[in-house]
Amino acid sequence: MRVVRETNFAGIPPAARGKVRDIYDVGDKLLIVASDRLSAFDVVLPTGIPDKGRVLTQLSLFWFNLLRGVIPNHVLSATEFPAEFDGYREDLAGRSMVVRKTRPLPIECVVRGYVSGSGWKDYRATGKICGIALPPSLRESDRLPEPIFTPATKATSGHDENISFEQAAALIGRELAERVRSVSIDLYQRATKYAGPRGILLADTKFEFGLLKNVAGVDELIWIDEALTPDSSRFWHAAQYKPGGPQPSFDKQFVRDYLERIQWPKTPPGPDLPPDVVAATRAKYREAYRILVGHALD
Ligand SMILES: Nc1ncnc2c1ncn2[C@@H]1O[C@H](COP(=O)(O)OP(=O)(O)OP(=O)(O)O)[C@@H](O)[C@H]1O
Ligand SMILES: [Mg+2]
Repeated sequence: MRVVRETNFAGIPPAARGKVRDIYDVGDKLLIVASDRLSAFDVVLPTGIPDKGRVLTQLSLFWFNLLRGVIPNHVLSATEFPAEFDGYREDLAGRSMVVRKTRPLPIECVVRGYVSGSGWKDYRATGKICGIALPPSLRESDRLPEPIFTPATKATSGHDENISFEQAAALIGRELAERVRSVSIDLYQRATKYAGPRGILLADTKFEFGLLKNVAGVDELIWIDEALTPDSSRFWHAAQYKPGGPQPSFDKQFVRDYLERIQWPKTPPGPDLPPDVVAATRAKYREAYRILVGHALD
């Protein structure tokens, strides 16, 4: 089984390496390679998870295609790569996309249908999430009366910070903020309608958008990055849903349990993962793909 923890292509340095993706600049396009890296508690672990990068890319392609009527996305090709990468086809296969290079908006567009994670923390402290007043006496993981748009800043290091809609409007302009709010909620609702009958609750998810000038020289809004993956979303099994406390993480629970068990202090470096934890985590990523797309990842 091929695990790609990091790509290294002779003479072609990446423009950036994120926690998960290696990004190559190819003129007016980008080649985005989803590696098999896994982060937990914001630390990238030394052990790769086989199939993780392929699941992220293939699941994103699935959602981009399913929801293409809502907003144009950045995908150009996931099978044809620039000639300079010809020698590295096996590293790229299944995990890579050539995309349109946009100017990313400096906010993360989070939509929440349930109160969990940093949303729960904010609600418990203030009764609000990102300045949005919510009903009193919600329990952790309760469903919200309707999905809410809860933007966050893109922190270059560490945790993203939740911001109010007004702060988002100050960052990107009110008209654009209203547009990404409405598109984000629309995407979330359509994804929820699709996943629900398949037994998956989409508790929350994070979208990214970018701007690109079209032929007329007018900025067009484009859905970029990844789409509704276990890394960008909280998926819960509807059959196991029990509000009133945290829900098990769909994909990272085995890793988190292991890290708690060995009492890792949650500061770098992260420890190696044992084979059973790797296998169980790989199976969860593959399960997310199988349930949502409807067949197993090859
Ligand atoms: N079409 C695009 N145009 C421009 N930038 C893009 C596009 N698609 C994705 N990106 C950017 O590429 C990066 C994806 O890499 P990755 O998700 O690994 O890192 P990250 O989200 O920046 O940081 P991390 O995940 O480590 O917190 C993001 O910064 C994202 O904004
Ligand atoms: Mg990212």
